[in-house]
Amino acid sequence: HKDLIDVTALKEADVMYLLDNAEQFYELNTRPIKKVPTLRGKSVIMFFVEPSTRTKTSFDVAGKRLSADTFSLAKSGSSISKGESLKDTALTLEAMTPDAIVIRHSASGAAQFLAERLDCSVINAGDGWHAHPTQALLDCFCLRRYFKSDFTDKKVLILGDIAHSRVARSNIHLLTMLGVKIKVCAPSTLLPRGIEEWGVEVFTDLDKASKDVDAIMCLRLQLERQQAGLLPDLNEYSKRYCLTQKHLENSGNIVKVLHPGPINRGLEISSELADSPESLILEQVAAGVATRMSILFALLTRNEKV
Ligand code: CP
Repeated sequence: HKDLIDVTALKEADVMYLLDNAEQFYELNTRPIKKVPTLRGKSVIMFFVEPSTRTKTSFDVAGKRLSADTFSLAKSGSSISKGESLKDTALTLEAMTPDAIVIRHSASGAAQFLAERLDCSVINAGDGWHAHPTQALLDCFCLRRYFKSDFTDKKVLILGDIAHSRVARSNIHLLTMLGVKIKVCAPSTLLPRGIEEWGVEVFTDLDKASKDVDAIMCLRLQLERQQAGLLPDLNEYSKRYCLTQKHLENSGNIVKVLHPGPINRGLEISSELADSPESLILEQVAAGVATRMSILFALLTRNEKV
């Protein structure tokens, strides 16, 4: 592959290749000296039109750990704020001959638009509601470790703002491909139209949804993407959908909890649970560096014998 735009383009063997390499990079990241020369001479531009802490920083760290040169362009301070188009900005960046551009954009399809027009690799770091493939891969990395590499008969509940979540869409596709059964739970206003056809079990009651699951993935309530008039009452939302220790006890299994971040404590997940041993939230961040190292390695060495 030249690009990583959506997990739908990956086969199971591609996913396993990326996760196996990520395991090696994860181990490397625990050593005192973490830097290797693998991508020396390569360069990566991070082009983030929407805000990010985890994805942007972890791609930067990932590139540097592999000795690639990394550069960043954000919306503020760039000529996007003077009205330069996405295409012209991307062509300008490509004229600086990077090997990859990592893009985050509010428009679904922005990464695909660039991949079709640029010769360098394009990596989707989140496009609108559409896809967040590197987040799904790192979530899969964490779950694979927790499930001891066996996804058979595992059940994962995805909880919260499914309608506006690119993380949910990418995770549902990827985890279903690996054999995981997916439940989703949200108020009906935060469930996308046609979700019954996605091959998932749909709930609006968290007590029912949280029974008999192996992991629960909470989602951020995407307040910036809510349609006018459909913003849930936050007090009511937290009473019905904020995940607490009580829901884990209700499950009847040993349950781990994930959240892609940033978290709204007390709204999507209780503060106590976010900081508990059941939480994989910071583990997801560590996995993010290793997984993004694996993705950069795979794309930037695709034409080389290494
Ligand atoms: N999970 C995630 O994409 O976080 P950031 O928005 O901080 O990158």
